[in-house]
Amino acid sequence: MTETAIVILAAGKGTRMKSRLPKVLHAIAGQPLLHHVLSTARGLDPQRLVLVLGPDMEDVAAALPDGAPGVDIAIQSERLGTGHALQMAMPALSGFSGDVLVLYGDVPLITAETLRALLAARRSGAALAVLAFEPEDSAAYGRLILGSDRKLERIVERLDADAAAAEIGLCNSGIMAIDGAHLAALLEALGKDNAKGEYYLTDIVAGARARGLDCVHAMASAEEVMGINDRVQLAEAEAALQGRLRCRAMENGATLIDPASIWLSLDTELGEDVTIGPNTVFGPGVRIADGVEIRAFCHLEGATVETGAIIGPYARLRPGAEIGEGARVGNFVEVKKARVEKGAKINHLSYIGDARVGAGANIGAGTITCNYDGFTKSLSDIGAGAFIGSNSALVAPVVIGDGAVVAAGSVITEDVAADAIAVARGKQVERAGAAARRRDKKSGREKKKSEKAKG
Ligand code: UD1
Ligand code: MG
Repeated sequence: MTETAIVILAAGKGTRMKSRLPKVLHAIAGQPLLHHVLSTARGLDPQRLVLVLGPDMEDVAAALPDGAPGVDIAIQSERLGTGHALQMAMPALSGFSGDVLVLYGDVPLITAETLRALLAARRSGAALAVLAFEPEDSAAYGRLILGSDRKLERIVERLDADAAAAEIGLCNSGIMAIDGAHLAALLEALGKDNAKGEYYLTDIVAGARARGLDCVHAMASAEEVMGINDRVQLAEAEAALQGRLRCRAMENGATLIDPASIWLSLDTELGEDVTIGPNTVFGPGVRIADGVEIRAFCHLEGATVETGAIIGPYARLRPGAEIGEGARVGNFVEVKKARVEKGAKINHLSYIGDARVGAGANIGAGTITCNYDGFTKSLSDIGAGAFIGSNSALVAPVVIGDGAVVAAGSVITEDVAADAIAVARGKQVERAGAAARRRDKKSGREKKKSEKAKG
């Protein structure tokens, strides 16, 4: 098996994003563009993985997932073109003679399947294989010039194209696979006598042909190789990726009632027989087990939901929400960093944060865990089978024992023992007949006033 090294070019400035954030850190489906490329690259099990960044891109290196083990970072201090960028990766490839696959950090939708086909094309006896596509508008791309044998002769950049080359619809995606045995020599031969005065990576095709080496191309869809240069393209890539993620979710056994209004993250895990209502958003880090129903208008991130639970409509699960089997989180309920155990119910209008809600407990409408005193966060521990009356405030840290009852409207500041009833609210006072006396008094006064006004 030929070994593979992957080099991701990402030193470009991305000025058209008009952003302080480096382009490759802008996100689609909840993950930075670069993470999509890295995760596809990893899927190919490369022997080496090199990322080429600009000198001013420390924040990109810092944002790599888990410090990106096994990723070599090469810095291109001056942006002298794609060929120069690949040259900067060569020290990290020393001693490597397998295939070098070049990806772009701002082309996030490329699939492992297409890259495998490109590598196979290279391995069919060519020195390099270029991934080509046929865009609707070819104006921005390098054109592939094929020989009479359909083999690739050279790539002409758009600024250097003559009228005949400008007519060609077969374009360079930028992605290519090169036989590492020839790469160093091909890169060394690059010049910069062209419209941009840059070292074009695309010129290695003509260089290889001049040495009598074969070059070929493989095809990709325009969607897979779309590059992100501005925020309109960012939104287009998001839409395309959402389409893919929705299909994958449905193929895996989830019912999406209105797919177009359900937004997923790259890492969203949905089990079988999950039903998701319209207008629901999954941020990063959500895992939903089999048979869960998520009703319309929910927002979830960093949360897990176990088998058979029902969420929403209009529920918000924030990071650290763990909803147990068969539990119920209803409308206008927010759960953060809290474990809601098997069969517990929080049906309406509540905030449960930094808490445990024991199995089978019932949290009444309007219950608030007061987890923050302005300085620190504290825990509310609600026992199994406890019943919290409506409109209660549980001032943390506080423990409500198993089977305890908190009376509606209580402000609980002390622990409540198991099976006890706690009442912590103003005592009710009743004055017999007082309402009628008040009514008479008021209406008497009103009568006098209106007589006076008439004169
Ligand atoms: C490049 C190709 C063109 C192709 C197009 C596809 C060349 C000469 N041209 O053109 O044939 O149709 O991509 O989108 O290769 N980069 C660096 N350092 C640099 C310059 C670029 O790391 O000095 C990186 C960028 O971050 C980006 C990629 O290389 O990820 C492509 O750079 P870009 O400037 O967009 O190339 P194009 O001119 O679009
Ligand atoms: Mg470009």
